[in-house]
Amino acid sequence: MPVRMERPELSTSSDVAVAAQERGYPRIVVEPPGPRARAIVDRESTLASACYIKAYPLVVARGEGPMVEDVDGNRFIDFMAGIGVASTGHAHPAVVGAIQRAAGDFLHVCGTDFYYPAMTELMDRLARLAPGPTPKRVFLTNSGTEAVDGAIKLARRATGRTQIVAFDGAFHGRSYGAMSLTSSKALQRKGFGPMLPGVHHVPYGYCFRCAYGKSWPSCELACVSAIERNLFARRVDPSDVAAIVVEPIQGEGGYVVPPADYLPALRSLCDRHGILLVADEIQSGVGRTGRMFACEHAGVEPDILLTAKGLASGMPIGAIVVRETVDLWESGAHGSTFGGNPVCCAAANATLELVENGLVDQAARVGRHLLARAADVASRHEVVGDVRGLGLMVGLELCDPARGGAPAKKLAEAVVQTAFRKGLLVLDAGESVVRLLPPLVADEVDVDLALGILDETLAEVSGA
Ligand SMILES: Cc1ncc(COP(=O)(O)O)c(C=O)c1O
Repeated sequence: MPVRMERPELSTSSDVAVAAQERGYPRIVVEPPGPRARAIVDRESTLASACYIKAYPLVVARGEGPMVEDVDGNRFIDFMAGIGVASTGHAHPAVVGAIQRAAGDFLHVCGTDFYYPAMTELMDRLARLAPGPTPKRVFLTNSGTEAVDGAIKLARRATGRTQIVAFDGAFHGRSYGAMSLTSSKALQRKGFGPMLPGVHHVPYGYCFRCAYGKSWPSCELACVSAIERNLFARRVDPSDVAAIVVEPIQGEGGYVVPPADYLPALRSLCDRHGILLVADEIQSGVGRTGRMFACEHAGVEPDILLTAKGLASGMPIGAIVVRETVDLWESGAHGSTFGGNPVCCAAANATLELVENGLVDQAARVGRHLLARAADVASRHEVVGDVRGLGLMVGLELCDPARGGAPAKKLAEAVVQTAFRKGLLVLDAGESVVRLLPPLVADEVDVDLALGILDETLAEVSGA
């Protein structure tokens, strides 16, 4: 493991250089992509389907904690965590050990039809950890999008209603049900229609660019009352609505943190009309925001909670966690050959053990430092219009001052590429947000190392 420093904060650039040397990352030995990375990228270019995104030419050889090493020996500090998946960092020994033991026992038996202890244990953990006091039941999937599709089926079956409300800017996945709820980029739906019928998108609680031109709290949550005033009064009777599906913090949509009273207002809207509240915590869950699930910050218990991504530190698994009273589908109504694979369940149990017993508190503590350091960096760069986040889910929205603060999309893309060349892995989101989502094992020194590079990168790309 890399050397851990006790110093909580690095104040000078020489402190940062010393910390990087002691930890062994970031360390750029050849400008990425180096020769080995380029060979892989070139080879794959004739093989991979054209739909892959490939944010930048990172070719990974290994990882350890918050560090990723490429095939040329460059070491990066990872502030994207495989898009929020490497929750316990790369190759955490407790998770790797659990995977190895489980793989040595058996690889598959099909949890839809049979039993094994790791699956029962994971259901027990998720039912206990899901927000709210009411008893829960669990269905295990292979991915986030599969959890979303399952939740749509369950919501329709349980309520006998057909209509679904989702939000502008939402990302819920790529399969047909989830894609129909997704509305973050038109490209993700282009040419794939028709979508699932009965889905209605409404503005999200995105205060920095409020759809109603208002500000919080004087807006009195116009974005929530408009659901009743506009959608329910004019287009869809609420008695036809099965579910409102919401990300407690929008992820791909731009790390949008709604006001504190937003989720409670959605909860009471649902309660007034017998609608199910589905919280998609696929990106915001498993400790990322400094609580096990982001809904806890608002004290809201959803009817259906969806999790995946960081649940097993990188092994493919997701879950639908549903209130027992809403689990109204019969045996055989839904299933999955691989869902809840035993090796993935073992990885998820090891992950949740680590998150519950330390990493969730670390994420809250380091997250406060990350938000403060991000605000500090923002204060030096006019192009950063907004800094927001909870725990280790922080976004910097880049704006173009010459265009009245319009989203600076090209700049955000340039930040991501330039940071990569300097040894920092980040991603963009929304129209022009640089998102920071390190593994939960990252500490204050990692934050200082990363934000030092981000500061330098912003200066370089914005010419400031
Ligand atoms: C909030 C949210 N929901 C659903 C998904 C889809 O998950 P998956 O890619 O595992 O299908 C994602 C993926 O980014 C997500 O961020």
